[in-house]
Amino acid sequence: MYTIGIDLGTSAVKLLLMGEDGGILNIVSREYPLEFPRPGWSQQNPGDWWEAVRRGIPELLAGRDAGQVRGIGAGGQMHGLVALDSGGQVIRPAILWNDGRTWKQVEYLNETVGRDNLSRYTANIAFAGFTAPKLLWMRENEPELFARIDKIMLPKDYINYRLTGVHCTDYSDASGMLLLDVEHRRWSREMLDICGIREEQLPRLYESWETVGTVKPDIASALGLPENVAVCAGAGDNAAAAVGCGVVGDGCCNISLGTSGTVFITSGAFGVDRHNALHSFDHADGGYHLMGCILSAASCNRWWQEGILGVSDFQGEEAAIRPEKLGKNGVYYLPYLMGERSPHNDPAAQGAFVGLRMDTSRADMTQAVLEGVAFAIRDCVEIARGQGVEIRSSRICGGGAKSSLWRLILSSVLGIPLELPQTEQGPSYGAAMLAAVACGAWPDIKSCARQLTRVKQVTQPDAALTEAYELRYRMWRKLYPALKPLYREMDGGEQSIR
Ligand code: XUL
Repeated sequence: MYTIGIDLGTSAVKLLLMGEDGGILNIVSREYPLEFPRPGWSQQNPGDWWEAVRRGIPELLAGRDAGQVRGIGAGGQMHGLVALDSGGQVIRPAILWNDGRTWKQVEYLNETVGRDNLSRYTANIAFAGFTAPKLLWMRENEPELFARIDKIMLPKDYINYRLTGVHCTDYSDASGMLLLDVEHRRWSREMLDICGIREEQLPRLYESWETVGTVKPDIASALGLPENVAVCAGAGDNAAAAVGCGVVGDGCCNISLGTSGTVFITSGAFGVDRHNALHSFDHADGGYHLMGCILSAASCNRWWQEGILGVSDFQGEEAAIRPEKLGKNGVYYLPYLMGERSPHNDPAAQGAFVGLRMDTSRADMTQAVLEGVAFAIRDCVEIARGQGVEIRSSRICGGGAKSSLWRLILSSVLGIPLELPQTEQGPSYGAAMLAAVACGAWPDIKSCARQLTRVKQVTQPDAALTEAYELRYRMWRKLYPALKPLYREMDGGEQSIR
């Protein structure tokens, strides 16, 4: 028996074929464009996602016994607003998780509706990337399009919809819409009223491992799949990554260094952080989790190396960083290329290099990028620690986790060991596991995830570096408050997102 795991990312979709024993038989990746039509805006065409999946699945199955495929699961970029009309057509490009255009609607939700009310209705406050503010934005700015909305869904739900024709979502992904009562796992009547939508427009809710339908016969034959392949509800990419890294049950942590950076802390019991600085969401294992999210993590490194330096050999570029320079860099970097979510909730924040001198080298700046992202992740960890959550170690995944240097820097900045799983695939592997549970290959997702995940390598923090980074982190922390008033002032001009 095989299952297919889909990771619908921001730059590409990754498809993974998993055998019954958890072995990975094949992986295929297909990129699609990402549009930034205005400063701070970020959108994608859902048709491009489907096209990438439609072409990718036959490629994934080439030379394999496709008749053995029993299930499909998808994990996907969270929060994106996908709106369909009554004919099932996409109304406008999806507004993504790292889009900052909704600052005004976020202000309305947090200040006028009020943080306490939002937290009572949903367990969360509003952030620019969340789905509810996007609905308000559409209602205000595109009223004709808003009036045509028949179905609202999240990115990976669109893939499930194209595969099965079923309009559904799962609790982990629905948590990021600011429309779900996370504690009780049901839509919030109050939030529906605030956004001017009806429950029939929203997807039906499922646990991540539940089967929502089977692949439609015409799609199955086009993709080279057998009849009756089960499709499970899937999960938000962070919850799927946590499953794929074995981060299930109570009190575990996963850090993802992908396009975004996340700190994902599991809990068997529902909880909200005092200031709602961390997201309080449902987990794909039936429990809950707290999460901090920085909007630009490995994407900073990609921006710096590919976009600015024009190189694609990341390892080669990082090799120029001399070990004795770690913890002693005079250059600081703020990673706010798309504004920032946790902890600042500030779409107007911008990236910055500070501390440049005539003797600053290219390697110093590359190092500053890796360190700046690590400090921003530490900001999220500090909020959790401030709530009394103890994080003694963490799994780590995402493209950035491949760099042993970045793992050493992050581990030393956080002062905890970082465990790299044998299978670094994160969301696609977790999604394939969810599908395997849906097909009955495993009794539940916790036992499946625990049995199939092993740690490959542990990066221990270096005590001297941890001490040096403590001082650097304290200095770095002063930069955002110092620049914040200037971000506001700079935000008046042409390049404004406001
Ligand atoms: C999480 C978040 C990001 C996206 C990236 O809240 O916005 O991690 O899910 O795909």
